[in-house]
Amino acid sequence: MARSKIALIGAGQIGGTLALLAGLKELGDVVLFDAAEGVPQGKALDIAELAPLEGFDARILGANSYDAIEGADVVMVTAGVPRKQGMSRDDLLAINLRVMEQVGAGIGKYAPDAFVICITNPLDAMVWALQRWSGLPPHRVVGMAGVLDGARLRYFLAEEFDVSVEDVTAFVLGGHGAAMVPLMRYCTVGGIPVPDLVRMGWTSEERLAAMVERTRDGGAEIVTLLRTGAAFYAPAAAAIAMAESHLKDKKRLMPAAVYLSGEYGLKDIYVGVPAVIGARGVERVVEVDLDRAERAMFEKSVAAVETLVDACLKIAPGLG
Ligand code: APR
Repeated sequence: MARSKIALIGAGQIGGTLALLAGLKELGDVVLFDAAEGVPQGKALDIAELAPLEGFDARILGANSYDAIEGADVVMVTAGVPRKQGMSRDDLLAINLRVMEQVGAGIGKYAPDAFVICITNPLDAMVWALQRWSGLPPHRVVGMAGVLDGARLRYFLAEEFDVSVEDVTAFVLGGHGAAMVPLMRYCTVGGIPVPDLVRMGWTSEERLAAMVERTRDGGAEIVTLLRTGAAFYAPAAAAIAMAESHLKDKKRLMPAAVYLSGEYGLKDIYVGVPAVIGARGVERVVEVDLDRAERAMFEKSVAAVETLVDACLKIAPGLG
């Protein structure tokens, strides 16, 4: 069986880590594309030289022209400017929107059959613009946010309960970061819902609320610590999990920013919801019942995404 081809648009911190993880997991051959000359080639060569040590077989190449991504099965997009200290996700909008225009054109021309995972922030708006500019069907263009937010929450819960991260599941909806909506009744430890663990005295509502806040601010916490950079290990691993579910047709049910056409009463917008990701891309959008408080939080989150999309439309009216 021929190896899959994975194209990475953006060979920065996340892009390089994506290439490394894709190699280590033997997901396929990798093309690292970047506007900066030498960077994708240098990172690709470094990872290719690591392959004999880790024992994986994959071609890892760097490129500065879009034709290198031709026929890619998966495209992961990190091109753009990352958030710096003091910069909100919204500040990034104008710069990264222009980048999505170029990237969308490149994917539409050279990898129209790919499954596309957008990582560039502000995520919920960028993935929407990328789908439009690429012309690919919406079920094959998704955004990575919930898997990362969920992983952060899982880590905090596992620390709190002193149990394996493997046994903790987290359920998040809505936009990325500040707009995230956690549904605690669907977060579990070994199948036991977290609200039951509160009743059992494992933690308190206050401590849970603090963990949710820390998850919402997860990106900013790391930006503050690093001073000159943003998170990249966990974001890359989250996107790789989504790519793997598609490439291996695992049909994992994971939170993803997906295009909604009527689900949750929403149309023509990308919002984080649980989705089954398989060989066909987004194979199913899962609609869970929301209680009044959850619905209110979800609506607030959707309103934040709509504001971003409106801001995009002001900058690029052609997107409408
Ligand atoms: N075309 C191709 N590559 C581009 C373009 C473009 N138009 N504009 C910028 N890039 C490249 C940069 O040269 C850089 O190598 O995108 C890369 C971005 O890498 P980093 O600056 O290291 O950013 P990273 O930490 O990888 O984050 C990328 O993901 O989580 C989001 O907020 C984050 O939007 C940011 C993105």
